[in-house]
Parts: sequence; C-alpha cells; structure tokens
Amino acid sequence: MPAMSEMAATSPAGRDAEWWRTAVIYQVYPRSFADANGDGIGDIRGITEGLGALSELGVDAIWLSPFYRSPQNDAGYDVADYCDVDPIFGTLADVDELIARAHALGLRVIVDLVPNHSSSEHRWFQEALASAPGSVERGRYIFRDGRGSCGELPPNNWQSVFGGAAWTRILEPNGTPGQWYLHLFDTTQPDFDWTSAWVQDRFIEILLFWLDRGVDGFRVDVAHGLDKDQGLPDYDATAASAFTPGPYWGRPGVHEIYREWRALLDTYSDGRMLCAEAWVSPLESLAEWVRPDQMHQAFNFEYLVTRWHPTALRDVIRDSLSAFGAVGAPSTWVLSNHDVVRLVTRLGLPTDTDLSHGIGRTTAVSLDLTVGLRRARAATLLTLALPGSAYVYQGEELGLPEVIDIPDGARQDPTWNRTNGERFGRDGCRVPLPWTASDPAFGFNTTGAAWLPQPAGWRDLARDVQRTDSTSTLRLYQEALRLRRVHSLGGGELTWHDVSDSVLSFRVGGLRVIVNFSQTALELPPGRVVVSSAPLEAGALPADSAAWLIDEEAVA
Ligand code: NOJ
Ligand code: CA
Repeated sequence: MPAMSEMAATSPAGRDAEWWRTAVIYQVYPRSFADANGDGIGDIRGITEGLGALSELGVDAIWLSPFYRSPQNDAGYDVADYCDVDPIFGTLADVDELIARAHALGLRVIVDLVPNHSSSEHRWFQEALASAPGSVERGRYIFRDGRGSCGELPPNNWQSVFGGAAWTRILEPNGTPGQWYLHLFDTTQPDFDWTSAWVQDRFIEILLFWLDRGVDGFRVDVAHGLDKDQGLPDYDATAASAFTPGPYWGRPGVHEIYREWRALLDTYSDGRMLCAEAWVSPLESLAEWVRPDQMHQAFNFEYLVTRWHPTALRDVIRDSLSAFGAVGAPSTWVLSNHDVVRLVTRLGLPTDTDLSHGIGRTTAVSLDLTVGLRRARAATLLTLALPGSAYVYQGEELGLPEVIDIPDGARQDPTWNRTNGERFGRDGCRVPLPWTASDPAFGFNTTGAAWLPQPAGWRDLARDVQRTDSTSTLRLYQEALRLRRVHSLGGGELTWHDVSDSVLSFRVGGLRVIVNFSQTALELPPGRVVVSSAPLEAGALPADSAAWLIDEEAVA
C-alpha cells in the first residue's frame, strides 16, 4: 500500500478541502459499469479503464457502490469483509490502482460504507451464531428471544424493507430452535447493535483502513437506521412521521456516531467527506445529518421524488436551499441511483404511477419514452444549474431508460425473490452499460456475457454513438458540466424569476435558467442561449425543455 505522503502527492484533495460543496459526483455501480475480464460482471479494472470517459464527461468525483467481499445477496450491500475486495471485482491492488489513476485525472473517489448490517457470512456474525445467547459475540448484533410460550413468535412486528418479517429464528449450536436476529433488509443482512462499543470501534478501524488507502470520502448506507429503540416496540406505521419517526428510522442516537466519524475525518486536512443515505423527511430533519460537526452532505431524495411540475420543483429547491443553508451545508441534487426507476422512464409515466417497488413486465403502465427523454434532458439542465453538489447515476448521461422486460428467471434483486415476484425491485436500473454499438454486450466486455440482459435498442444509446452526435444526451451532459464549471454555478446564488404553472425560471452565476413545462413553445427573453435541452423552434423554447441564457453584454 502506498504511504500517506505518496497518496497526498497524487491526490487532488488538498487543493480545495471544501470541494464537496459544489462537486458533481458520478455514481459507479461496479457490477454494471465495465467488465475487463469478460465474465459478465463489471469489475474494478473495468472501472479504471473507463475513468478517461468520466474525466472527459467532466465530473469531479466518483462514488463506487460496494465492491467488498460479499456473497452478493444484495449486490454487495451484504458485506462479508469490509477491508477486502470481492474476487468477482478484483483485488485491493486493483483498487489502489483505480484510486491512483482517478487522482491523476483529478477525480476524487468516494466509497460506500455499509454500517447498518453485515452479511450473515461475516466472521463476526458466524461467531455470534456459534456463541451462547447473552454472549459478547451475540451482543454485536440484535439477537432476542421470541415471544409465545416456546419463543416461536418473532420479538415484534417489524418488517423487512425487502418484504416479509424483519426477524429470522436461528438454530442454536446444539441444534434446537433458538433466538431471533433482526434484519431490516434481507435475511442474510443481520443488523449490528450500534450500542456496542465493540461495533463502534470496528467501524473506526474500517474508516481508517480506507482513508489511509487514499479514498476521499464515504457514502454511508442506511445512515438513518443505525439506532434502534432498545425496547423493540411494535412499529405503528400510522403513528410514524418525521417527528416521531418510529422505532428504527431517524432516531437521535445516530448523530453521536457521525460526530465521532467527522472528528476522525477532520484529522485529515485534505477534504475527506461523508454523505448520508438517509430517507428522512422533511428537509429540516434531514439537515440534522449535515450539521457542521456531522456529515458533509446528505442525498436530497425529496428532490428526486418531486413530480415534474414547476411550483412543486420550485418549492423543493427553495426548501432545500433554506434547510441545508440554515446549517451551513450545501444541498445535494439527485435525479437517480441504483435503487429507483431510471429518470427517463419515470418522467415518461403518469405522475401517479406507483414506482416504490420497481416496475416490470406485468406492470400496467402507460409509458411515453419520447416525452420521458425530453423531460429528463430538461431536468438535467435544471439540476446541473442548482447551487450545491449534484449526483449523476451511471447511464443517466446516456439517457438510458429502465429495462422493464427482464425475464423473470434473470432477475436477481432480493426484493423480487422475497416477495415471490410480487415486487419487481431494482434490476431494471442496473443493467450493464452500453459503451460501443457494434461490439458484444455493447462493449461492456469483449465476450458478450452480461449478468442482466441488455435490450437490443441500447445499440443506439452506446457511448461511442453519442460521443460523435452533437445532439446526444451524452454531449448535453458534457456541455452542461463544462458551462457549470465556467460559470461556477455550484457556488452561485439562486434568485427566482418567473414561476407559474408552465414555467420555472431563475438566475444563477450570471445565467438565466428557463424550463418550459407547457405543451407549447415559449418565447425567450433577450440574451444568448448557451445550451438548451432541445433545439429551439424559430427561436422559441419547445415544450418540456430547458435552456441556459447569458446576457450578450455580460459575454462582451
Ligand atoms: C440502500 C442501498 O442503496 C440499497 O441498494 C441496499 O439494498 C440497501 N441500502 C441495504 O443495504
Ligand atoms: Ca468481470
């Protein structure tokens, strides 16, 4: 492993320790980005080889979803060793090379940290299973006796996010049915007991391991779930709200944990950061995660779920800037990730479509992908103009739609399996990326293997096709990212202009941003259009599109 001083020499960190305030961060989903060894699963070397394309795109950093040793029951969010790389993805040496290459290109690297649960194959959980009830090993996780005369009922009514009960009963080492353990996700993802000092210490070691390897930060998985009500009361979903969030989401105890982590990161002076994945609302509550002594950023999912409507978007943008601004944190802007239906498809569906459990072959949807793509491109110009930090999920820059018709037998999401196919889950947004139109697996690898099948229509969306087409979505992202940098939009002040039922418009960084939500073209005010999400129609902005304008005088 390179020494710290060598890392610092190659790291872009240090040039601006507050880089995360305005950064555009590209999410790499390792299984689906690029597959260097051709086994059908993306890998670390594939990512390293693809970094040039991301640098060309113009992002500031990458965030890697988990690549740690794992049985892959939840695509790596079930970690069996936090300090090693799963052989399907490569080796620690490959990660060192990736970090070095990224830093050489001026890209920072954020990795995923999964502290709410481990894999049931983790040595710590195996030791807990082999130990007696009440032992220190069991105390690392949440084991309890069951209810009922023989302990045959789970300790309470908590449900797994993936469907079914959140408790599984074990066989004790002597072979008799015994205690139950908690898993808010899959049965193979037992929750840690974060009141355990032993667990807290292990995670400090894990943070140090990766910090000293040169990573620039962590995206913290389920950052709102670590603190459970020790009384384990039943979950009354009707009583839960942002202010009384229920017995395990958004409880106050999590903040002490992050204060300790922040203090640790602050001992590195070169801009290491934490970003919370916390599905908490309202925004004022979420802002508690990014108070100055805690995390640096939190994903703004409220923005992601806001419907395509000018006043709804104005409200969430205004509230985000105000809630995060009140604690001195930047807002983040997120349009998609590996857990939600892809943007182009989402915006091509009626706004009342239930997307919470994914969509698939049998979902009755009235989908218009042409409208979806137009709106997604407009949403991109809106988002990349906003002050703060933006996240881009791989494939968003290619305008990829959700893959709805994945054959049942190919689906892999635990949601699909735990609900016997009732909920489709997230495979449709995780299909391997198309790089080149005329190669096997569209250049994802050279063998044609792919862990989820790619639709034939993705040939036209391949990166090489889009690179040479000045009207492509890829070129739109690239140009918007370039202009965002030139005009320092991430650090700009936003002032509202027009907001009506059909238009959203504001000024930022000397630019005027206009989004036309109506079904007719909109006359533009004086000024030069520097980028638009669709070609202008006789000088007017078409329906469902957006433009950035600059005053001619300001250019001169
Ligand atoms: C959130 C992650 O983004 C998701 O993919 C995962 O299944 C759950 N957390 C559990 O780790
Ligand atoms: Ca591979």
